[in-house]
Amino acid sequence: METRIVGAEEGLDEAVSLIKSGELVVIPTETVYGLGADALNPAAVKKIFEAKGRPQDNPLIVHISRVEQVKTIAREVPDEFYALAERFMPGPLTVVLEKSDAVPYEVTAGGHTVAVRMPNNAIVRRLIAASSPIAAPSANRSKHVSPTTAAHVYDDLKGRVSLILDGGECVVGIESTVLDLTTDIPTVLRPGAVTADMIAEVLGAVSSAGKIIGVAKSPGMKYEHYAPTVPAVAAYDEDKAFARYDEEVRAGGRPVLIMRERHRAAAGERAFISLGDTPEECMRRIYAALRKAEREYTFVIVEALSGKGAEGSVMNRIMKSVGGKLL
Ligand code: TXA
Ligand code: MG
Repeated sequence: METRIVGAEEGLDEAVSLIKSGELVVIPTETVYGLGADALNPAAVKKIFEAKGRPQDNPLIVHISRVEQVKTIAREVPDEFYALAERFMPGPLTVVLEKSDAVPYEVTAGGHTVAVRMPNNAIVRRLIAASSPIAAPSANRSKHVSPTTAAHVYDDLKGRVSLILDGGECVVGIESTVLDLTTDIPTVLRPGAVTADMIAEVLGAVSSAGKIIGVAKSPGMKYEHYAPTVPAVAAYDEDKAFARYDEEVRAGGRPVLIMRERHRAAAGERAFISLGDTPEECMRRIYAALRKAEREYTFVIVEALSGKGAEGSVMNRIMKSVGGKLL
C-alpha cells in the first residue's frame, strides 16, 4: 500500500470518503497524531488494531465534532461532562462514560465504558461532521513513541495506511488527559495538559492519587509505552546525568542528553537536545526529542522533572520511556 502525506485541508474530501468506506486515515490533533476509523463500524475499527499491532484489550478513544454528539456515543451523560466541556472542549481532555449501544465492543475492548474527546483541530472536526465519530489511538506502532509530526507517523506506519493528513506539528505534544466519570469520584487515568488541579476547579473533587501507573482501569497504562528504540534512563541530578554520559562515551557509545535549556551551558560539549524551559515547551518537544535521540544516538539520558501539574504529565511519559529507570 502506498502511503501519502497530504495537507489536511487539501485531503479532507478524500478522508471523508475513506472513513465512510471503512478505511483508515491518519488525523492531526493538538495532542498527537491519531490513526482514525469510523467508530461505529466494527470492521473498520479492527483495521486500527492490525495496522498498529495494538493489543486487542486496549480500548480506543472516540473523537466527536460537537459536544452534543456525545449523546450518540454515551448511554447517559452526567452534568459533570457538560461542565467540563464548557471549560475544556474542544481540547486535550478525554472523558470516560457508559457506552451507548451504537458503539461496538471492538472500540471499547469488550467493556461497557467509552472514552470520548473533541479534538481542537477544525479540519478534523469537519471530517467527523461529514462522516462519523472517529475512533483513533495515537498513530505510532504499538509501544513506540507517539507521533507529533506527519513524518513521525510515516516512519511508523508507512505501507499500513493510505492517507496521512498533515496538520503540522502538534501544539500540545503529549496525549490527552483521560478522566473517568463512571467512578464515584472522577478519576484521572492518564495525566495530560488538562491537569487534575484544573479539573478539580470545575468538579470540586478528582482522584489522581492512583498516579495512573498501575491503574488497571485504563488498560493501556499497564503496557510499556513511549519507548525509544535505544536504551534510556532518567536523572534528577545534572552531575549524575553528565557522569553517566561520560561513562557511556568511554565505553564507545554515542549518548545524548535531553534536558531543559537551563542545563545547556553546564553540559558543555556534550550532545544536547533541548526541551525548552516551560512545562508547555517540554510537553510539545518531548516526543520529537526522543525520536531524534533514537535516530542519531545509542544511549539517552533524559532530565527527570517534578511530579506537579503539567510538568508531572510530561514526567509520566518520561518515566514510561525509560521503563522506570532513574539514575
Ligand atoms: O490525545 C489523545 O488522546 C490521542 C489523540 C489521537 O486523540 N489518542 C490517544 O489514544 O492517545 P491511545 O489509544 O494511544 O490512548 C488511549 C488511552 C489508553 O491508555 C486507553 O487504555 C485509555 O485511553 N482508554 C480508552 N478507552 C478507555 C475506557 N473506556 N476506559 C478507560 N480507559 C480507556
Ligand atoms: Mg498511544
